[in-house]
Amino acid sequence: MPVITTIEDLRLLAKARVPRMFYDYADSGSWTESTYRANEHDFRRIQLRQRVAVNMEGRSLRTQMVGQDVAMPVALAPTGLTGMQHADGEILSARAAESLGVPFTLSTMSICSIEDIAAHTKAPFWFQLYVMRDRDFIERLIDRAKAAQCSALMLTLDLQILGQRHKDLKNGLSAPPKLTVANLLNMATKPRWCLGMLGTKRRQFGNIVGHVKGVTEMSSLSTWTAQQFDPRLNWGDVEWIKKRWGGKLVLKGILDPEDARLAVDSGADALIVSNHGGRQLDGAPSSINALPAIVDAVGSQIEVWMDGGIRSGQDVLKAVALGAKGTLIGRPFLYGLGAMGEQGVRTALQIIQKELDLTMAFCGRTDIRQVDKSILLPGTYPTPELFSV
Ligand code: FNR
Repeated sequence: MPVITTIEDLRLLAKARVPRMFYDYADSGSWTESTYRANEHDFRRIQLRQRVAVNMEGRSLRTQMVGQDVAMPVALAPTGLTGMQHADGEILSARAAESLGVPFTLSTMSICSIEDIAAHTKAPFWFQLYVMRDRDFIERLIDRAKAAQCSALMLTLDLQILGQRHKDLKNGLSAPPKLTVANLLNMATKPRWCLGMLGTKRRQFGNIVGHVKGVTEMSSLSTWTAQQFDPRLNWGDVEWIKKRWGGKLVLKGILDPEDARLAVDSGADALIVSNHGGRQLDGAPSSINALPAIVDAVGSQIEVWMDGGIRSGQDVLKAVALGAKGTLIGRPFLYGLGAMGEQGVRTALQIIQKELDLTMAFCGRTDIRQVDKSILLPGTYPTPELFSV
């Protein structure tokens, strides 16, 4: 067993242990993947100012996201098909998040259901909503999230239609996987994954199958999404969803200051600067480059969070320095999950937590809530002017 010290170690282990179809689903972006790559690269350009001879004792990463105490400004992002990276993946990830004191977000397109997560955790979790054409189903989903006492609803605004991801089409992505010769041969090389899957009954979209009229099977994700997701989603819908939900509302997928202002007008509690991990509009700016202009436009009126490209605690610190009150991680925890199940997700979070803590100290700060742009080297970080026209 290799010694795991980085998120990259977890990625390599996940690649070896998860069937290709699902590993590729996680480790890919749309079209040329330029935005997917930019999300990570643009973090690396930003340089930190080292300070010395500062008392570094008694450090704290504790803060709040939408009024909820968190051990550090990091939450697990909603990711579809997480229960295909590892059997019962959403339950295991939610438990790992709970043990580290950070929020877990369950995707609409999860394998384990809302009720599964509620039954296996004590800490409140967040629920991410995709809006489908069948509005009765959406109302029932919102009611199920309320019944499970989810403490925030995260409405994703950047996936009314699906960005094309070449690998998923080539691999024939489906859940459960079709038992073709190619898939069987590949799965035969992943015995841990197979054993886990044989030991669980959760192999379909748990929030959907059995809850939408006529849906007993969703063989092709891309075809199903094209038929069911509502391309008409607009700000009027945000209003009725907010009313129906009645609790904390987070809008996910904002990349432009104009949309950020509309998000403020909608009365949401937080927005997430996000390009869906580079999986939707290829050619859009990286999240970290888009962040400063949005903080500048609306940061005093709404909590601004960001996700996309975070692969270390240093990246979290840079996002916080540029004004993010919280961050989310997608692939880092999926790699941990695929590599080592619940322990792997804990390891991913611990790696990020430790890097964040040490890096903050090297920058001469002891409280994450006091971190601002002054820890960054001028000229190396993105500024709001990137968006001025
Ligand atoms: C996602 N993302 C996502 N977002 C969402 O709102 N609902 C979803 O079901 C999914 N599904 C999903 C699956 C997979 C495999 C990935 C990688 C991502 C986007 C996700 O919430 C988040 O925005 C990105 O993952 C952030 O980028 P990083 O941290 O993966 O670089």
